[in-house]
Amino acid sequence: MSLRVVARRRAILLAASGAAVLVLVLVVALVAVRSSPASPSPARSVQVATGIASTPPMGWNSWNHFGCSVDAALVERTADALAANGLQKLGYDSVDIDDCWMAPRRDAQTGELVPDPVKFPQGIAAVARYLHARGFLLGIYEDAGTETCAGFPGSLGHERLDARTFARWGVDILKYDNCNHAGQSTTSQYIARYVAMRDALRATGRSIFFAICEWGVHHPWTWGAGVGQSWRTTHDIADNYGSMLAIFRQNVALSAAAGPGGWNDPDMLEVGNGGMTATEQRTEFTLWAAMAAPLVAGADMRSLSPEDLAIYSNAEAIAIDQDARGAQAAPVRQNGKPAGSGGLWVLSKPLADGGRAVVLFNSTDTQQTMSTTASAVGLHGSRFAIHDVWSGTDSVSSGEIGAMIAPHEAAMYRVTVDR
Ligand code: GLA
Repeated sequence: MSLRVVARRRAILLAASGAAVLVLVLVVALVAVRSSPASPSPARSVQVATGIASTPPMGWNSWNHFGCSVDAALVERTADALAANGLQKLGYDSVDIDDCWMAPRRDAQTGELVPDPVKFPQGIAAVARYLHARGFLLGIYEDAGTETCAGFPGSLGHERLDARTFARWGVDILKYDNCNHAGQSTTSQYIARYVAMRDALRATGRSIFFAICEWGVHHPWTWGAGVGQSWRTTHDIADNYGSMLAIFRQNVALSAAAGPGGWNDPDMLEVGNGGMTATEQRTEFTLWAAMAAPLVAGADMRSLSPEDLAIYSNAEAIAIDQDARGAQAAPVRQNGKPAGSGGLWVLSKPLADGGRAVVLFNSTDTQQTMSTTASAVGLHGSRFAIHDVWSGTDSVSSGEIGAMIAPHEAAMYRVTVDR
C-alpha cells in the first residue's frame, strides 16, 4: 500500500487515461452487474489527491490462520519474516492485528480500549514502534457495534475516543467490522455507523487507511468510496476452493466500483494455509491480482513452504495488482454468451501502459481449451506480445489468446500491442 503522496504527474496521467477506462469498464459492467455500483465520487478524488490508497493495500493479517491467537510476539516475528523472506521488498508492508487483541473491558477511568495485558504486555504503541522502525505499517481491528465479532468492546458510540487512541498508538490502518450492531441495520444506519468512524479518524489528523468490513450486506461498493479506502464485498472466505470461487464470482461483477482511493475487498488470501491445491492457490492469487484486490496474506509467514512463498512473490502478478491505472479486471463476454458461461471466465484488466492483463480461468473440474481475442479484451492492432505471468514465456500473436487450462487453473498474461 502506498501512503505516500501521489506525484502530480501520476494524477494527470490517471485523469487522462481515466475517461477511456471508465467507458470500457462501464460498458462491461452494465451487462455484468446486477445492482449498479456508484461511479467514482468526488470523495475518491480527494483520497487520490492526498495519496492514501493509490494502489491496493498489501500485507499480512492474523485472522485467517491464527484467529484469536494473536499477540505481540506473533506480530513482530511476522514482520521479521516478511523482511527476511523478501515479501516486504515486494510491497507487503502492513502487518494487521485482527480481532481478540483487547482486554474484555474498557478502562474504568478513561473509557479507553485496553490491549490484552498478556498478549500485548507493552501495549499496542510498542508494537507500532517496532513495526515503524522496520518500515512497516500497523493495522488494527475494531467493530461498528457494541462488541467485536469475538465479543470484545466495540466502538459504537465511542468513535472519537477510540480513533484518538488508535492515532496516539501509531495505528496506520483500521479494519472496521460489523458484528453486534445494536439493531442499526438499515442502509442509512450502516452508512452512519461507518461515517461516524471515518469522521473520527479524520479528526485525529493522522492518515489512517479505513477498511470497511460490512461483508457486502448493504452494497458498500455503492457508498464506500466516500467513506473508506476499501470495502469487503462478501462474507468471510474459508480455506477451500468452493469458498474462494463463490467470493470471486461475487467480487468480479463489481469492477466498475474499484479504482485509486477505493478498492473492492474480496477478503484475505488463503495461500499457504493448506486447504487448496497448489493450482487453486495460484488461481486465488491470480484472480485477486486481476481484481486489484488488497493482497493481504492470511497464512503463517514464519513457516511458508518455498512453493507458497513463490506464489506470494510473483512480482509480475503483484505489478498487475498494483498497476497505477487502478482498474479492476472486468469479465469479458464470450461469443455472445454471458461472461463465465459454463464456468469459463475471461477477464481483462486495463493497465497503465495501455496493455491488458488477461486471465483465462477454468473453474470447472475438467481440462478445457480456452481462448479469447485481443479485440475482445480491448486491444487493437495486428500483432500482440503475450507474456505468461506464471511460466515467464513470451509469444507473439495476431490476435488469438488461448491455451489448455487445467481444472481450477487461471492463466494470466500481460498482453500489449506489438508495434
Ligand atoms: C468477521 C470478519 C473477519 C474477522 C472476524 C474476527 O467475521 O469478517 O474477517 O475479522 O470477524 O472476529
